[in-house]
Amino acid sequence: MGVIHVIDRDGERHTLEALEGWRVMEIIRDWNLPLSGACGGACECGTCHVFVSEPWLDKLHPATEEEEGRLDMLPLTRKNSRLACQILYEPELDGLEVTLAPVSG
Ligand code: FES
Repeated sequence: MGVIHVIDRDGERHTLEALEGWRVMEIIRDWNLPLSGACGGACECGTCHVFVSEPWLDKLHPATEEEEGRLDMLPLTRKNSRLACQILYEPELDGLEVTLAPVSG
């Protein structure tokens, strides 16, 4: 087991235990942080939008076309935007840091 760090929309940093094979979206939601993951990880809602801290960007699998397409539809994206449902936690990601993107609309 490892941990991920999540900075919420108030700027507070949370350290969450993370299980291998879980989606980062599920981990964040399971710890009751405000991330809805409305589509359950089907890449359809964009409510799991996070900003990945710079040092971790290259350690993640690149976004699929499907993820890129969904991100293109979201406001307020940055070059470090990812969908947390598309990031599977694995031991190599121990210490991963993400920031919850602002809720739009
Ligand atoms: S949970 Fe819907 S796109 Fe990630």
